[in-house]
Amino acid sequence: MSKQFDVVVIGAGPGGYIAAIRAAQLGYSVACVDEWKNAAGGPAPGGTCTNVGCIPSKALLQSSEHYEQAGHHFADHGIKIEGLSLDLARLVGRKDTVVKQNNDGILFLFKKNKVSFFHGRGSFAGAADAADATDGAGYVIEVNGASTEALVAKHVIIATGSNPRALPAAPFDEKLVLSNSGALALDAVPKKLGVIGAGVIGLEMGSVWRRLGAEVTILEALPDFLGAVDTQIAKEAHKAFKKQGLAIELGVQIGAIKADAKSSTVAVDYTSAKGEAKSVVFDRLIVSIGRVPNTSGLNADKVGLALDARGFITVDEDCKTNLANVWAVGDVVRGPMLAHKAEEEGVAVAERIAGQHGHVNFNTIPWVIYTSPEIAWVGQTEEALKAEGRAYRAGTFPFLANGRARALGDTTGMVKFLADAKTDEILGVHIVGPMASELIAEAVVAMAFRASSEDIARICHAHPSLSEATKEAALAVDKRTLNF
Ligand code: FAD
Ligand code: NAI
Repeated sequence: MSKQFDVVVIGAGPGGYIAAIRAAQLGYSVACVDEWKNAAGGPAPGGTCTNVGCIPSKALLQSSEHYEQAGHHFADHGIKIEGLSLDLARLVGRKDTVVKQNNDGILFLFKKNKVSFFHGRGSFAGAADAADATDGAGYVIEVNGASTEALVAKHVIIATGSNPRALPAAPFDEKLVLSNSGALALDAVPKKLGVIGAGVIGLEMGSVWRRLGAEVTILEALPDFLGAVDTQIAKEAHKAFKKQGLAIELGVQIGAIKADAKSSTVAVDYTSAKGEAKSVVFDRLIVSIGRVPNTSGLNADKVGLALDARGFITVDEDCKTNLANVWAVGDVVRGPMLAHKAEEEGVAVAERIAGQHGHVNFNTIPWVIYTSPEIAWVGQTEEALKAEGRAYRAGTFPFLANGRARALGDTTGMVKFLADAKTDEILGVHIVGPMASELIAEAVVAMAFRASSEDIARICHAHPSLSEATKEAALAVDKRTLNF
């Protein structure tokens, strides 16, 4: 006898588990199916984000930043450390503990919200018989785990996420050629670490291993550094990374890649931006050249689920697929591959199922790169506004002139505001500097309420705080900074 649910969610990453909880809050009977296994073979809900993405990378970034501070910056504060050493097993073990706390937290939330969790692969077995379906239409989702079960769902939410894109010349073996998974679990600091792709993962993971002692070279195909980021901000970040010793070579074309198990090295041939043929031998190579949607286990053909040319599930702006009552959210559909974007879509879909007006504002989705300095932004870049022909005013304020940043000992970077020339509505805020990840929230709130730069400039900000740089950058739009 099949188990019947109003909503079955496939995937328990941030898109799926949040959709399941919201649907349960709205009074539906909900099942969530996820196949991720922990080291012991047990369930590990949370998806890429919790297991090999956002959470473990931020744990390693935090630990490696402490190590860097202790080794290079504590002395500035008059703190002497002798015999500083690294216990990598403990550092990586701490990351694993943080991941497990998050896995357990999600299982607890499922229980609390009465979401039935099924551990195994979920796939479409076909349309439900009228007799089986709770309310006319529906699908049978087969779960293949320790046992096989059939779930009948009136609504299906697909949140199956994404996988790392491999270079055809260098499949991941997670020993020498690493995806994000291998890059988060090295058991020794490589002497020479190569990274292909100077995107978000390349910069975050490159930073982790450089801080822990690796000599890191990042090879990037595009001629511009962080092309999607506001150019002024990207330039400032590039300068800071160079100063730290992160070697970033732009405009390269990758050629042959040879992983040699015997010497435990990876040789990478490439052509430099100047057209020179080069070859470098690394101890480990991270390939971080983007991610591809994951629909492989869904049996999508069986029910005629439409995918686009790049393999993403085709959805409309409400996350509806071509099949009635089948929705898709997160990395497996168009839009930025970010955990909070997946969550927003998950909530909106659950609310739409309930006949409410779930809404995702794509203009106010923040981006953060958790390097040091951190890079964060929301809204449009100066280049995009120019291309659009929009009249705007810009204001910047450097952390160098911020008292809290000086007290922290971290004055790299700036806050930049872009506002409409006529209405003064904030069109974009870009930050490179300390705690940019937290500072950006104010800009997101302001943009969500369609605030003007004058609004931020007239709000009282605590002193001394980094957020005063945000207020000052807003004042700078009207050329009336007070502290610069
Ligand atoms: P996922 O998190 O990928 O979850 C999909 C889940 O579905 C997985 O558990 C998978 O096992 C399961 N699944 C797939 N197919 C099936 C099936 N047929 N049956 C059962 N289960 C199935 N984003 C941020 O916003 N901030 C960050 O700091 C950040 N850091 C990142 C760092 C790294 C190294 C990486 C790789 C990514 C990072 N991201 C970050 C991106 C973020 O992880 C993704 O955008 C997010 O996880 C997408 O959520 P999702 O729910 O769509 O999919
Ligand atoms: P990415 O899209 O951020 O960067 C990939 C980089 O690789 C690009 O700069 C691209 O030009 C380059 N590239 C592509 N093909 C290449 C080739 N053949 N040779 C050399 N360079 C090449 O992708 P990344 O870093 O893999 O991360 C995937 C996604 O995961 C991100 O886009 C983001 O959505 C998410 N993520 C988010 C994080 C955050 O929010 N802090 C952290 C890490 C990942």
